[in-house]
Amino acid sequence: MTKATIFRWSLFFYPIMNKSLISITDYSKEELLQLIDLAYYFESHPEPELLKNKIIASLFFEPSTRTRLSFETAIQRLGGRIIGFADASVSSTQKGESLRDTIMTISLYADLIVMRHPIEGAARFASEVSRVPIINAGDGANQHPTQCMLDLFSIKKTQGTLENLKIALVGDLKYGRTTHSLVQAMSNFNATFYLVSPEELRMPASSIQTIKDHNLKYYEMKNLEDAIPEVDILYMTRIQRERFADPLEYERVKNSYILHNHMLDGSKDNLKVLHPLPRVNEINIDVDKNPKAYYFQQALNGVYMREALLAHTLGLK
Ligand code: CP
Repeated sequence: MTKATIFRWSLFFYPIMNKSLISITDYSKEELLQLIDLAYYFESHPEPELLKNKIIASLFFEPSTRTRLSFETAIQRLGGRIIGFADASVSSTQKGESLRDTIMTISLYADLIVMRHPIEGAARFASEVSRVPIINAGDGANQHPTQCMLDLFSIKKTQGTLENLKIALVGDLKYGRTTHSLVQAMSNFNATFYLVSPEELRMPASSIQTIKDHNLKYYEMKNLEDAIPEVDILYMTRIQRERFADPLEYERVKNSYILHNHMLDGSKDNLKVLHPLPRVNEINIDVDKNPKAYYFQQALNGVYMREALLAHTLGLK
């Protein structure tokens, strides 16, 4: 047996020590700010050799455009190599392999695993059996911490600060994992929250509790136009059709909020409209030409932030 083989097998008998990113609460306020600074750094300082000799596994058990492709762009820009799949139906999951065995195996091939999975808690479970760090690229309706990081970066870039901002979260606050992560993160920065949703899709009690624990102001409301003049950030989300058990319930709420350009008249000068994307119909395309629309720049910011997250998680920056 070669030394390399002995080393690989010995990994099974050592405790797992890695700093995965599963929830946005895995980062302190100081780390959030450091990562934003690092994203600014990568935006102006490409480092095409940083991930040389690193192999990153990109495992998407659920569809994605931005998260997967911005991670792959970030890896390639830093000189790393990618293995993985964009569709679990081409993996041995189809033959009945467990997530545990899939992750244990791939963590012997790669230096880091980026993973999206439809089941809440799947990323946490993966981090407990993996030999290498896991970055959660979305687990069910639970958390989407890398989206949250690029949202924070986008807010900082457009407002100059993260402190004392008024932020409206609009749409599907029940299933919209990006809003759950954003409430947790912005609670570090004395935010005031305007939670705009239909009754059926209100923000979960656990997120409301986070706001209360930080003694922050929040308003739950149904009327989008009441929130628009008040806020610095208007964070639109789509109604998450794939999470509804009852298709009729989706039909009832799917058109709850549709932002049109004229509705931004009278909004604050510094207002920016964010959306994690994809959008369905909740932002009319007439908003795209408004300088307050920021969602495509937000998607670009994801590349710089994911470069920062890769470098940080691998301990390279
Ligand atoms: N924002 C986001 O997660 O987009 P994708 O589903 O396209 O990755």
